[in-house]
Amino acid sequence: MPCRQGVTRAVLSLILLLQPVLAAGSTTLVVSASSSSVSAHTANPSRLSSAPSKCNGHSEFCTRSYSNITFVGSHDAPFVGPLPQQNQNIDIKAQLDMGIRYLQAQTHHSPLDKKTLQLCHTSCFLEDAGTLKNFLVTIKKWLDANPNEVVTLLLTNGDSVSISEFGETFSSSGITKYAYVPTTNPLSISDWPTLGEFISSGKRLVVFLDYGANTKQVNFIQDEFAYYFETAYDVTDPSFSSCSIDRPPKASATGRMGIVNHFLDIDIFGVKVPARDKAGTTNAASGKGSIGAQASLCEGLYGRAPNVILADFVDKGQVIKAQNALNGL
Ligand SMILES: *[C@@H]1O[C@H](CO)[C@@H](O)[C@H](O)[C@H]1NC(C)=O
Repeated sequence: MPCRQGVTRAVLSLILLLQPVLAAGSTTLVVSASSSSVSAHTANPSRLSSAPSKCNGHSEFCTRSYSNITFVGSHDAPFVGPLPQQNQNIDIKAQLDMGIRYLQAQTHHSPLDKKTLQLCHTSCFLEDAGTLKNFLVTIKKWLDANPNEVVTLLLTNGDSVSISEFGETFSSSGITKYAYVPTTNPLSISDWPTLGEFISSGKRLVVFLDYGANTKQVNFIQDEFAYYFETAYDVTDPSFSSCSIDRPPKASATGRMGIVNHFLDIDIFGVKVPARDKAGTTNAASGKGSIGAQASLCEGLYGRAPNVILADFVDKGQVIKAQNALNGL
């Protein structure tokens, strides 16, 4: 192992070990300042347009239900850079431009401003990728420029921030006009619209939150685990030889879409960091430990391809080729 990398990792380990100390005093209980509900309008006739000929780049998706599509998603999408705590090499716009349509991001309260939702990796002292609002503005601009594309956001709520703060942040970014609101809650797996329907209605952004969603307060942020199961994350087995359900506890795959955490970590003295050097084989379309291999393991277990395969370093390997193959394109 090159020496410099070793030093970087040692520094990272130190930062991680010191985190509880650094973060002390910033773990106040969050109480919502406002009980006002935030809603996206369910209909916007001015945006209704005729049926698109391509949806997310393929005519096949226009008539295919969202719940029957496999997306390769960018895991920790905003953490871009060369450091051990960074999971991606290219920025959000570049990820969208290369064909990624599913973005996963961690949110935390900013330690400097408790009213601001910030994109941080475990702690804002370790990795701070800016505000959630700026991230949403970037995606909104991309949706403005790309009218035949449907994008999904999967956010985590590491600091148990109230749903009204998420709603207000979305509203302030201007992105809510694109946010999809299911007709029933939860929508059954067979009732998801086709990508053509999302695009024709102008509601081309699907949003999930892992914990704390409340659609009575904010109707366009869905409860992740009402819709999905997930396999374990922080996998250190390069052959990805499991597709067992990790969350929700004891969940069945029946009636749920599936998220596979297909990003490899290496364990450095108990600290898991993304296995950057292995991204080419981890993100390959086929072969041992590839996206294709783990997806077929899942398909064997649950009778359907995974809906989402989360990957680090989406610019490495062949993630779009793998996504096309899983969608039969
Ligand atoms: C979509 O449906 C086809 C045909 O039933 C199936 O083979 C494929 O696994 C499904 N994909 C997903 C993500 O549900």
